[in-house]
Amino acid sequence: MTMTQTTAEAPSFTLTDNRNGRSWELPVLHGTVGPDVIDVRALYRETGCFTYDPGFTSTGSCQSGLTYIDGEQGILRHRGYPIEELAENVEFTDVCYLLLYGELPDAGQKQAFEHDIAHHTMLHEQFYNFFRGFRRDSHPMAVMCAAVGALSAFYHDGTDIHSAEHREVAALRLIAKMPTIAAVAYKYSLGQPFVYPRNELGYAANFLRMMYANPCEDYEVNPVLARALDRVLILHADHEQNASTSTVRLAGSSGANPFACIAAGIASLWGPAHGGANEAVLRMLSEIGGRDRIPEFIERAKDDDDPFRLMGFGHRVYKNYDPRAKILQASCHEVLAELGIENEPLLDLAMELERIALEDDYFVERKLFPNVDFYSGIIYRALGIPTSMFTAMFAIGRTVGWIAQWQEMIADPAMKIGRPRQLYVGETERHMDPAGQAD
Ligand code: ACO
Repeated sequence: MTMTQTTAEAPSFTLTDNRNGRSWELPVLHGTVGPDVIDVRALYRETGCFTYDPGFTSTGSCQSGLTYIDGEQGILRHRGYPIEELAENVEFTDVCYLLLYGELPDAGQKQAFEHDIAHHTMLHEQFYNFFRGFRRDSHPMAVMCAAVGALSAFYHDGTDIHSAEHREVAALRLIAKMPTIAAVAYKYSLGQPFVYPRNELGYAANFLRMMYANPCEDYEVNPVLARALDRVLILHADHEQNASTSTVRLAGSSGANPFACIAAGIASLWGPAHGGANEAVLRMLSEIGGRDRIPEFIERAKDDDDPFRLMGFGHRVYKNYDPRAKILQASCHEVLAELGIENEPLLDLAMELERIALEDDYFVERKLFPNVDFYSGIIYRALGIPTSMFTAMFAIGRTVGWIAQWQEMIADPAMKIGRPRQLYVGETERHMDPAGQAD
């Protein structure tokens, strides 16, 4: 089959089947900005063929008005606002509001929203029993998957996904409770008592206190560090139809409980090709150990026979510097300065690794640049967050994106259950022999 673009007033692609000369017009749809899409919804009905696109490298799965990415230019915008402006000027809860409701909040809306979030941060007291069932050394992401899925047991009957009000409460609960769940998972791993949230604290400050306070000693939150964490959360808030978000949408397309859908998103995020990369970056930098070993690891990353990849490098969409990585690199310096750390060997190593990789033909030709995970771990480490918690931090920031995308999907009258097809390459029909044995 061949496809050519027509220049008619209603733009379309002409698809021609070279086997029999038949052709079809495929409509072209335009967004407000970004590449057009070829509408193939009627393709199977009209041609008897499916499209084939493993990894969805050329497939748009939905319409969305939340986040725009131009991977060639390194642009990321939420509801039209560039990520750089959001990270510089507003707080994470403002970005949550923006993603959920479409506009930045005015002063009254901000106060009401933050009040609502603060008043949903507590967990049901029976919920703590779940944590006590885990092994002490459980990975926090395993605990997060299970605990967030368990929220559906607490709010299942009360969640009617067809009610906009119920969907909104589910969104607030998820955004509010995610830091509490992550902090409890951490405290459990230490064998320390769980610390309850405090409503007078901001979102990031509250999380830091739940992580580091204990009943014998309160924790005074450093506002500079709380702001740095808040900014990291902003940078993770949403990222269009990535693997975990698509997982949430697919799970949600069957009408499943939103808490269970977000648990599915957390599972998808965990993998090292996605959110698990931030943890892998720190492990990789520790393994490299010093500047003198960088060439060895660069060579390994380039070797087709070695599965090793430079973690925190490359992106399905960005073929330019990930704008989030740029902001994070600057933020690393601020955090380290605030903490009086003059020399952080891992930051030096990361910057040198980046410098060498960006001069290497292999990385240049493939347009492999640092992604959001490359520098986030260095900030987390400076904030005292253990490596095993890094992906849980990503999950806290991304929860708003997941739930806003889920809301957008459910509210869309065109929503359908997600059901991809396949190219079947297995056995054709065959039969057992009469004795019931294969011959
Ligand atoms: N190190 C070395 N080579 C790489 C890397 C890397 N980090 N990333 C991609 N490549 C190479 C591939 O080997 C491939 O080379 P080839 O054309 O010679 O076969 C080419 O670049 C294209 O790579 P693909 O795997 O086809 O690209 P894809 O878009 O499928 O993968 C991904 C993107 C998964 C992010 C990949 O770049 C990767 O594995 N990076 C490391 C993990 C990572 O940092 N993940 C976080 C992503 S950001 C996020 O989820 C928040």
